[in-house]
Amino acid sequence: MSGTKAEERKGSSSEWRDAFWNPRTHELLGRTASSWGLILLFYLVFYLFLAGMFVLTMYIMLLTLDDYKPTWQDRLATPGMMIHPKGDQLEITFSVSETESWDRFTQTLNTFLSPYNDSYQVQMNDNCPPDQFFIQEDSGEVRNNPKRSCQFNRSMLEECAGISDRFYGYSRGQPCVLIKLNRVIGMLPGKNGQSPYVTCGAKRYRVEKERDEWREDGDKLGPLAYYPPNGTFNLMYYPYYGKKAQVNYTQPLVAVKFLNASVNTDINVECKINSNTLEAGSERDKFAGRVSFKLRINHT
Ligand SMILES: *[C@@H]1O[C@H](CO)[C@@H](O)[C@H](O)[C@H]1NC(C)=O
Ligand SMILES: *[C@@H]1O[C@H](CO)[C@@H](O)[C@H](O)[C@H]1NC(C)=O
Ligand SMILES: *[C@@H]1O[C@H](CO)[C@@H](O)[C@H](O)[C@H]1NC(C)=O
Ligand SMILES: *[C@@H]1O[C@H](CO)[C@@H](O)[C@H](O)[C@H]1NC(C)=O
Ligand SMILES: *[C@@H]1O[C@H](CO)[C@@H](O)[C@H](O)[C@H]1NC(C)=O
Repeated sequence: MSGTKAEERKGSSSEWRDAFWNPRTHELLGRTASSWGLILLFYLVFYLFLAGMFVLTMYIMLLTLDDYKPTWQDRLATPGMMIHPKGDQLEITFSVSETESWDRFTQTLNTFLSPYNDSYQVQMNDNCPPDQFFIQEDSGEVRNNPKRSCQFNRSMLEECAGISDRFYGYSRGQPCVLIKLNRVIGMLPGKNGQSPYVTCGAKRYRVEKERDEWREDGDKLGPLAYYPPNGTFNLMYYPYYGKKAQVNYTQPLVAVKFLNASVNTDINVECKINSNTLEAGSERDKFAGRVSFKLRINHT
């Protein structure tokens, strides 16, 4: 009884060994050397073919890409906006009497505005006719590159240029905030010679998360001044043709100065773009064409 069991075990183990390497038929895992060779050859050819297909499609796709224009661009109707200085989390909080509390804001503005210096703009850019687009299309396949850009002089920000007032109003509790519209290649943000302009106001906000009670700080905002006049982004700075085509492009700015904002209180401000071609941001896209931030001026 036990002998047969041992024989069976022996038999199955030799069967198993034969399945791996059968010395009689010279088969490895049930296949002869030439059969294995054919399989390996098949896979080699197969994978080479796949790699070739990949390289070919990649090559064709790269051929269709344009260095100067994105092939795919989100059809974002209205671009977002950004402020400078940004503060932490778009909060501009400072004490008028404590120089160090606003020093970093004025430093940021100095750095940000240095390429806008009039002398620099004159070297780099053109003095364009205002209130019309600065169109520089390519003619067919012939590239009209590099393209010129229009001057945006620092002095156009007047009181907020940091020239007559080196501290941008921060030392007197009348801070300047710079606003820019994010760049979108080919965007035409106005028509009929009407430039888009920025307006700022109090932002409506929920008092508490759960309750449906809204408030706004309209009475705390005080009068505002905009530079350039009316807070416009002149049409001559559009369309933008991209970093590579328009190497010296200088993004236009609007400065808003808070002339008599209430002190020692948080003020929720929202600035938005007004244009006859750009749709105002909808509920779905809250950041389109607008930016909101918190301002707090402490004064003792
Ligand atoms: C730009 O102008 C400001 C003030 O006029 C000056 O302090 C600054 O050094 C200038 N920056 C450059 C890069 O020329
Ligand atoms: C910018 O400033 C320069 C030098 O002051 C001046 O010649 C030029 O006309 C100004 N450009 C614009 C667009 O105001
Ligand atoms: C860019 O600015 C430089 C001077 O900084 C100027 O020499 C060059 O011609 C400008 N290029 C274009 C395309 O405007
Ligand atoms: C500012 O807007 C007013 C009214 O819309 C207009 O009369 C005035 O010409 C504008 N000023 C500038 C510099 O565009
Ligand atoms: C500034 O606003 C305060 C109220 O917040 C008001 O009493 C004061 O007269 C205003 N000052 C000026 C110069 O408008």
